[in-house]
Amino acid sequence: MESHAGLAATPRALPYYVAFSQLLGLIAVATTGAWLGLYRGGIAWQGVLQFNVHPLCMVIGLIFLQGDALLVYRVFRNETKRTTKVLHGLLHVFAFIIALVGLVAVFDYHRKKGYADLYSLHSWCGILAFVLYFVQGQV
Ligand code: HEM
Repeated sequence: MESHAGLAATPRALPYYVAFSQLLGLIAVATTGAWLGLYRGGIAWQGVLQFNVHPLCMVIGLIFLQGDALLVYRVFRNETKRTTKVLHGLLHVFAFIIALVGLVAVFDYHRKKGYADLYSLHSWCGILAFVLYFVQGQV
């Protein structure tokens, strides 16, 4: 809907939905971090703790940051297109890099341990999700 000034009108409930989405996202990141820190010994790039980099990076990258990248155009609907595009792009770049680190961590961990790769439904769905995400950025 357009207002008289030509700017997109902001739905009244939007700020509440956005705040709620951020709360859920931050809770997902915080609970994952707490689970890994308190119950699984933390994260590191060496030894068994290397696996723990995977869930944390996937949740931060592909769930929280990617979700926020998608929301940018709705949340900052009255900013210039250039500004929102830059923010949108930056969030996607961070999401991509962090998710890539998470994937490298789990593949590298499997390699060091001598475990097979891609043996579960999770791993195939995950690799498909990541490839489709990457492809979206190319078209
Ligand atoms: C968008 C999020 C995620 C994606 C795209 C993803 C993707 C993947 C991929 C591609 C593998 C295969 C690695 C290999 O074969 O060497 C894998 C393995 C694994 N991931 Fe994830 N993952 C995600 C989130 C998570 C989360 C949040 C957890 C835990 C809470 C998790 C737990 C595991 C486990 C236990 C494995 C090893 C067993 C297996 O290959 O299924 N992942 N993941």
